[in-house]
Amino acid sequence: MNFDILVNRKNTDCIKWDGLKEIYGKDDILPLWIADMDFESSPEIIDALINRSEHGVFGYPLISAKIFEPFIEWNKRRNGLNIDQEWILTCPGLVTGFTLGILAFTKEGDGVMIQTPVYPPFHSSVKNNNRILIENQLIEKEGYYTIDFEDFERKIRENNVKLFILCNPHNPVGRVWTLEELERMAEICLKYDVKIFSDEIHSDLILKGYKFKSILSLDEKYKKIIISAMAPSKTFNIAGLTASMVLIPDEDTRETYDKVRQSLSIGMLNIFGLTALEAAYRHGEQWLEEVMSYIEDNFDYMISFIKEEMPHVKCRKPEATYLGWLDFRNIYPKQDDLNDFLINKAKVALNSGLTFGKQGEGFVRINLGCPRSILEEALNRIRTAL
Ligand SMILES: Cc1ncc(COP(=O)(O)O)c(C=O)c1O
Repeated sequence: MNFDILVNRKNTDCIKWDGLKEIYGKDDILPLWIADMDFESSPEIIDALINRSEHGVFGYPLISAKIFEPFIEWNKRRNGLNIDQEWILTCPGLVTGFTLGILAFTKEGDGVMIQTPVYPPFHSSVKNNNRILIENQLIEKEGYYTIDFEDFERKIRENNVKLFILCNPHNPVGRVWTLEELERMAEICLKYDVKIFSDEIHSDLILKGYKFKSILSLDEKYKKIIISAMAPSKTFNIAGLTASMVLIPDEDTRETYDKVRQSLSIGMLNIFGLTALEAAYRHGEQWLEEVMSYIEDNFDYMISFIKEEMPHVKCRKPEATYLGWLDFRNIYPKQDDLNDFLINKAKVALNSGLTFGKQGEGFVRINLGCPRSILEEALNRIRTAL
């Protein structure tokens, strides 16, 4: 694959490029924001979609076991996980997935805990459903984030927390939580009977030297409280096809969740999403290896550029995802000033750090799922403007 190729995404109804005016107030800026890649998806997925499309009949699909076989196989091979077919409940996207978790496992006024800074819909889904948002702030030291376990337990104990939404790997700080960290969190959650909804959407996007551990790999004793959610959307750049999976090993927990899913009639996926999901896990591994190697190089390029050309900006290479987390606090501690600088002077569209939580102030998230030339242009624009 040649990921240097610039695919023109303008006028394709894509929010990243076509939504700039609406989101940033102008469209003459270079977009490295929202989490989708500027690369074509794997040729096998594209072929499968063309074949399906040429059939010409697009009636109701049958969501059969066959569709999930490659996904189950994928997880066995790559993550050492034994996923049972019956654990899998489909839903369009993971935001829907964890929102259903909020509805299923909590009631209005209950506490739902997240680890900030974190993906903005973690905040909004809790608030929109009139639950109390509880923040276990991550501890940052030179760009490396760890968990404050004392605070984790205290917040659960004091705030009637019923659900913890975990982000693993973590967006935006890029951590792949270790087995020890997962076990420590699960131990506390088990003690207070808190369900863990683990958003594992980035779990295939692991950078060299790290190994993903799913919440599902924990001991049997945690079975009642764990829920994982995975999808091919980020992995294969098919987020617009909306086909995701929530995995719930415990039968009662699954039933509780599914009741809410059924009550809202969520679960039916569109045939293109299903076609892509099956093809992705069946044939997409080689493409994924290649794209991750390209992203790895993008990170190395960016980190050395920043070190040499704009040393007051701080950035640590993440352990996973194609998302970088840039610390501008030395130059622009106030988010408004930083956003104004990036949009109006540097003319790049990045994600404002403050939308991830208070500790995100003075940071921005940058998307490295793009051709090197776009990344180079963005970094040069920032350097020149600085
Ligand atoms: C952690 C996390 N969860 C969920 C999503 C979005 O999921 P979906 O588009 O499947 O709703 C994203 C997208 O960036 C994400 O980073």
